[in-house]
Amino acid sequence: MSGSSSVLVASDLVRRYDQRIVVDRVSLTIESGEMVSLMGASGCGKTTLLHILGTLDRPDEGRLLLLGRDPARLSDAARAVMRREELGFVFQQSNLLPSLTARENVALPAWRATGQRRASLDRADALLDRFGLAARGDAPGRVLSLGEAQRVAVARALINRPQMVLADEPTGSLDSEASLAVLDAMAEVCRTGAALLIVTHDPNVAARCARRLVMRDGRLAPGASLSAVEDVATAHRTVV
Ligand SMILES: Nc1ncnc2c1ncn2[C@@H]1O[C@H](COP(=O)(O)OP(=O)(O)OP(=O)(O)O)[C@@H](O)[C@H]1O
Ligand SMILES: [Mg+2]
Repeated sequence: MSGSSSVLVASDLVRRYDQRIVVDRVSLTIESGEMVSLMGASGCGKTTLLHILGTLDRPDEGRLLLLGRDPARLSDAARAVMRREELGFVFQQSNLLPSLTARENVALPAWRATGQRRASLDRADALLDRFGLAARGDAPGRVLSLGEAQRVAVARALINRPQMVLADEPTGSLDSEASLAVLDAMAEVCRTGAALLIVTHDPNVAARCARRLVMRDGRLAPGASLSAVEDVATAHRTVV
């Protein structure tokens, strides 16, 4: 690994859609144990960047080193195993499997990784309980409310004790108590050495992160102060 505790090292990442630059020479290093927030106006490129950092998309230019490995040099199968077993994703649109129950959705990555169905479901139940969803474990994904689905997605992202968590507005549909539970769980994962990159429009969420990034038109402005974060949040509220 380059720099013994760097979980992620991105250098000059560029992503274009139809000649339009959406991610514009983004460089970013995230160390083990770090909680990093990413704010920015709608459409500025946050999800696109997150997908590149999580190996779901490839940059047109630039280099990425993730957990000491260059994803571009891994096979598709090796990248898929890395995503499933070492990364935790919370997608902007939860992406739960609609016909599986909440507990099966959460358990699935652990079950696939270990082959242990019972233990995976037990662990899923413990995570659901932690997020106030003990009574919803048997509900199919398709009937969950937005906020329930979001917490199920967070539980699913954490079940394999990932080394890097990439979360795209994971508290966008949650009340403050549920948001707090999610952030506490993420902070706990970071204390064990994982790193977190969390996209948010909520300055209270950003305030929980030691490092706060702001994205504008595809470019990263590092080291944002809380007042800059508050400005971005105000601009977002004005738009939506
Ligand atoms: N597959 C695609 N093809 C073409 N354009 C795309 C594609 N995906 C994203 N874009 C464009 O790239 C820009 C950045 O999109 P992205 O989803 O990364 O924004 P975002 O910062 O996550 O916004 P939000 O806060 O609304 O989620 C947008 O203008 C979007 O329309
Ligand atoms: Mg987005």
